[in-house]
Amino acid sequence: MKFENKVIVICGAGKGIGFNLAKSLDDLGCRLILHAFSNESMEKLKCSFSNKKHKYFKCDFSDPLNLEFEWNKQIGVDLKVDGFVNCVGTRLRRPLNLLNASLIIQIMTTNFVSHLEMIRILTKKGNYNSGFSAVGVSSIAAHIGSAGVAAYAASKAAMEAATRCLAKELFKKKIRVNTVVCGQINTEAYDSFMETKTDADNILDRQFLGLGTSQDVSDIILFLLSDKSRFISGASIPADGGYLI
Ligand SMILES: NC(=O)c1ccc[n+]([C@@H]2O[C@H](COP(=O)([O-])OP(=O)(O)OC[C@H]3O[C@@H](n4cnc5c(N)ncnc54)[C@H](OP(=O)(O)O)[C@@H]3O)[C@@H](O)[C@H]2O)c1
Repeated sequence: MKFENKVIVICGAGKGIGFNLAKSLDDLGCRLILHAFSNESMEKLKCSFSNKKHKYFKCDFSDPLNLEFEWNKQIGVDLKVDGFVNCVGTRLRRPLNLLNASLIIQIMTTNFVSHLEMIRILTKKGNYNSGFSAVGVSSIAAHIGSAGVAAYAASKAAMEAATRCLAKELFKKKIRVNTVVCGQINTEAYDSFMETKTDADNILDRQFLGLGTSQDVSDIILFLLSDKSRFISGASIPADGGYLI
C-alpha cells in the first residue's frame, strides 16, 4: 500500500485505536493531521511525533457548529487531504430512567453529528484529492441490543446509516466512505467501560477470536484508506472477532 506523503486526518488520535493508527501511518511516511480534544492527548501526540512535519488540530466534537471555523483557523484551506479516520467516541452506560435529553444530545452530537460535519468540511471543493477515503469507527453496539447503551448504540447506527447514503452521493467525486464495526478491543477505554458492566453476558464467549487489539483495527483501516479497497464503499466492515455472526 502506498501511503508516502499522503495527507491523512485522524480525529481522536490521542488514545487507543487512533494513537495506534497514527503510529502506523507515520511509519508509512504519511503527513498527518492529528486531532485531540484533551490537553493531555494533544501533549502526548506532540511529544510522540516531535520530529515530524505533522499538523495538530484541537477541538471539541460536542460543539459541531464550531468545527469548520476551527479547521480553517488551525489547518487552513490550502491543504488537500487524501483520507479521514474518525476514532472519536464517548461511551455511556446508563438505564433509561437515568438518561436525560442533554446526555442523549451530547452523545449523538459528539459521536455522529460531528462525524458527518467533518466529512462535509473535508469534501468541500478544493479540500481533498481524488480518491479520498473516509473511515468512521463504529461499534457492534449498533447491531445488537444491549441494556443501558441506547444513546451510544444509536449514535453508531446513525454513523453507519449516513455512511451508506454518503457513499451513493459522493462516488461521482471519487470519494469512498466506510465504517469499521469494532467488537471488544483492548484499550484503556474498554477496561473502564467494562467496569460499569453489571449483566452476566460474557462477551468474549461470543467474540470467539478473542479480545481484539488496536493493531487489528488499524490494519483494516489502512486497507480501507488505500486503493486496494477501491471496490468497497458504503460498507460496515466487521472488526469484531466473530461477534456478530
Ligand atoms: N475499545 C473498544 O472496545 C471499542 C469497541 C467498539 C467501538 N469502539 C470505538 O472506537 C473508537 C476509539 O475507541 P478507543 O477505545 O480506541 O479509545 P477511546 O479512549 O474511547 O477514545 C476516544 C477518543 O475520543 C476523543 N473524544 C472524546 N470526547 C471528545 C470530544 N468531546 N471532542 C473530541 N474528541 C473527543 C478522545 O479524545 P482525547 O484523547 O483528546 O480525550 C479520544 O481520543 C471510539 O469511537 C469507540 O466508540 C471502541
